[in-house]
Amino acid sequence: MDKILVLDFGGQYDQLIARRVRAAHVYAEIHGYDRITPEEIRKNGYRGVIFTGGPNSVYAKDAPKIDASVLSIGVPILGICYGHQLLTYLAGGQIAPARAGSEYGKTPLYTESCPLFEGVPPESVCWMSHTDELTAPPPGFRVVALTPHCAAAAVADENRRLYGVQFHPEVTHTEYGDAIIRNFLFRICGCGADWQMEDVLERTVNEYRWSLDGKRVLLALSGGVDSSVAAALLHRAVGDNLTCVFVDHGLMRKGEADLVERTFGKELGVKFIRVNAEERFLSALAGVTDPEAKRKIIGEQFIRAFEQTAKSLGKPEVLAQGTIYPDVIESGKGDSAVIKSHHNVGGLPKRIGFETIAEPLKDLFKDEVRAIGERLGLPKALIWRQPFPGPGLGVRVMGEITGEKLAALREADAVFREMVERAGGANLPDQYFAVLLDTRSVGVKGDRRAYGYTVALRAVTTDDFMTASFTRLSWDTLETAAGRIVNEVPGVTRVVYDVTSKPPATVEWE
Ligand code: XMP
Repeated sequence: MDKILVLDFGGQYDQLIARRVRAAHVYAEIHGYDRITPEEIRKNGYRGVIFTGGPNSVYAKDAPKIDASVLSIGVPILGICYGHQLLTYLAGGQIAPARAGSEYGKTPLYTESCPLFEGVPPESVCWMSHTDELTAPPPGFRVVALTPHCAAAAVADENRRLYGVQFHPEVTHTEYGDAIIRNFLFRICGCGADWQMEDVLERTVNEYRWSLDGKRVLLALSGGVDSSVAAALLHRAVGDNLTCVFVDHGLMRKGEADLVERTFGKELGVKFIRVNAEERFLSALAGVTDPEAKRKIIGEQFIRAFEQTAKSLGKPEVLAQGTIYPDVIESGKGDSAVIKSHHNVGGLPKRIGFETIAEPLKDLFKDEVRAIGERLGLPKALIWRQPFPGPGLGVRVMGEITGEKLAALREADAVFREMVERAGGANLPDQYFAVLLDTRSVGVKGDRRAYGYTVALRAVTTDDFMTASFTRLSWDTLETAAGRIVNEVPGVTRVVYDVTSKPPATVEWE
């Protein structure tokens, strides 16, 4: 199978680049620029390398770089944005702050004929985001595109198969971005289009059927997309040797725990254990108000509950996890600032002493995981579930978590989701939910003074959850949702809508 290396220099679009390559049915891997040497790139047999963008200037003191010998290993390279500047800098070109100042947004692109621009008209639109630019192309390179503000928007050394583009072909605003990426893959690198979802599913199932033969496999099922797809896939591979443990911490949304039990325990016929641990979680959380402390307690309780069940099953040999490719890449980077400690099941293997870990989705992006889930026949409600934090409603009840507050939040959240879905049709926000505030306010319910909770509604539109805008829901939707919540949910007297974007606010309130 042909593969492409996406060499990550810290840009925000590295995953998008790899996904575009895979969408063209070529397998792409992402590695940090300092995790692989030119010699390893050559030995690993990559058909081509894409240098990603990055926030730096090549002249900055700690600018991320790779040894210039990468240019002479005979593997084609496409540099994008910072990657274009780095590639040409390594080849002997000169970079300087752009004469016209930083350029950001859509701009006309004028291209000349070259293998990278086959099928791209001489004039089209591209998307730019840069501060520096190439001012003197290196020997052997010719300029093959320009924009009104950037004289070397693309360069090519056709002999050595080295190409650089200052703009971003991976974003949809670049009209012919897809054609440019395909030209690089097929015309320049000579890749075959042999990465197909059907094959991936068959191949993974076969691999695990063979490697896990006769072993007992345990999977912690959270009800999220990743662990659900991992469970369905492994069930196909090892059948009854798989046991799924679903720790119901009582912090799921309305109806969700039952959907998980119905899908796996009844419809798919997976060996399924539901651990009803709500009491245990609530007593451990009693009196705790600090958000990070709540997360830690929920994580710890989860591990304990899972551990007990694993022991009661006589310690199966294999622990299966729904790790997906972005988790692998993120943990490999290791230096991104921790804004919120995200709860996962790390730490389990060491404590329980499994022989092996099985991570059948570790090479796949979310959209690929969903495609596999659909092929495996999982219900749409599970596959297209909006993101939901591991600590669940625990981080959506502000302040102390109690059974009463959770019940109110579950109802308010269900009403809000129903109203948004009814109004939105196919065009839904990327995440929408209710939060129960710790602030009470005065209201009037049935001619009486009421002193109840406030519910905040939140809906955001985002590509990657790193930045997000609040969604401009219609007043009608908000009015109906608010009316229903104060009428139908006991203890709630006020509803507000969150109109902050991220940054500075995060998506979740805690
Ligand atoms: P924030 O609040 O950081 O959220 O803007 C970004 C995305 O991450 C989700 N999120 C979490 N997911 N454990 C998770 O598994 C967590 O502790 C957690 N906190 C936030 C959030 O729902 C949003 O999609």
